[in-house]
Amino acid sequence: MNSNVATKSITSVTDKTYKILEKENKYMSYTTRVPYYPLVVDKAKGSIVTDIEGNEFIDFLSSAAVINTGHNHPKVIKAINDQVKKFVHYTPAYMYHEPHTNLAEKLIEITPGNFKKRVAFGLSGSSSVDGAIKAARCYTGRTKIISFLRSYHGTTYGALSVSGYGVEMRRKMNPLVPDVEFIPYPDCYRCINNQKFPGCDLTCFRYFENLLETVLPKEEIAAVIFEPIQGDAGIITPPQKYYEKLVSLCRKNNILLIADEVQTGFGRTGKMFACEHFGLEPDIIVMGKAIASGMPLSAIVARSEIFESWNAPVHFFNTAGNVISCSAAIATIDVIKEDELISNANVQGNYIIDRFKPLMDKFDCIGDVRGKGLLIGVDIVKDRDTKERDINKTAKICWRCWEKGLILAFFSGSVLRIAPPLTLSSQEAERAMDIIEEAISDVEEGLIPDEVLEQIKGW
Ligand SMILES: Cc1ncc(COP(=O)(O)O)c(C=O)c1O
Repeated sequence: MNSNVATKSITSVTDKTYKILEKENKYMSYTTRVPYYPLVVDKAKGSIVTDIEGNEFIDFLSSAAVINTGHNHPKVIKAINDQVKKFVHYTPAYMYHEPHTNLAEKLIEITPGNFKKRVAFGLSGSSSVDGAIKAARCYTGRTKIISFLRSYHGTTYGALSVSGYGVEMRRKMNPLVPDVEFIPYPDCYRCINNQKFPGCDLTCFRYFENLLETVLPKEEIAAVIFEPIQGDAGIITPPQKYYEKLVSLCRKNNILLIADEVQTGFGRTGKMFACEHFGLEPDIIVMGKAIASGMPLSAIVARSEIFESWNAPVHFFNTAGNVISCSAAIATIDVIKEDELISNANVQGNYIIDRFKPLMDKFDCIGDVRGKGLLIGVDIVKDRDTKERDINKTAKICWRCWEKGLILAFFSGSVLRIAPPLTLSSQEAERAMDIIEEAISDVEEGLIPDEVLEQIKGW
């Protein structure tokens, strides 16, 4: 585990960085970027990222929960290098290769559910979400998909169509994939019905039942797609009871459960998959992001009979299941197990949550601290009672953290996104929390000018 803690207190940026930003702004589509701060990555190792200016940062983002094994883990790099020397690509759609087959076997072993499964690889989380929707429709012969408000499943047409993240993503995109209905996610911090669990008796679930009683025939529903813990919505963990009701309703009516574990998978939440926290055994699991430690790859693992209901060429991509990506993924799974990263995610995650508790007494702007393992959200609010999001303060805190040597991002407008590599050391966790505390204090004292808000837009 890397214990090299970033020490620089104030980040310095020169023309070297700004020239690259200018070029990027000139040539790149605006759709591909969520702006944070001027950080041009030069190299990265473990939890430390170094920019082209030589500034060092503790990485509390891990490339959006992708680098679970830490940057450039030697075993992952060795697997990539060993494979590069042999061959770089031959499409598994036509020929066979061992890493492809071996990875499929491993994924079946590590996913919840003691039943026969099959695997289909993809290029991104989004492409595998599309595949899951297609598989569910094909297998059930039904068309309707239920998804959740504020969910994020990706940006291909299928994934976008089941994403309830925000209207900006959907504006001018019609016609989206039809037959998708949205229901409220059980968000007990910002309850849509303004109630408190358990007294509420899950009125959010009643909404779903009402839909089924009034406008949505059950036998037309192919699947419910859900994030076991909503990620980009700001780390929302449903009560266990909600899942008990959902599973019971779906099983009774032959509705498939599709778990999107793209963000929560591969040890991120302190279990290999977040479904394990709730004892869920979904019919289809979608995974991506951390699966190959940053090499492009995604996968769908489904009950065998679901994948047996459709044939080629319904869902394949030339470079899906690329041999280097598969080799990196096998090494990733081995590293997560051998280096006991799941246990470290729980240790460091608990430490971070414990450090935030006294900060809630110190800073009124911290409305809520929540999450599991190393997927933690800190909600920054204008008022603890109204829970109104303080978007500007959130952005300024992240900006100040960057100035002090910590990569910290936010989503859902006001939620600090804490998702470091699972290799994070105790010293790194301590230093990063010191920086966050100093940053919040600096923002509260008004030291961060409004001009930074022109640059940092977040997610
Ligand atoms: C839960 C979830 N599903 C799907 C996706 C889409 O993955 P990708 O960006 O690899 O297409 C994401 C990405 O953030 C995600 O968080």
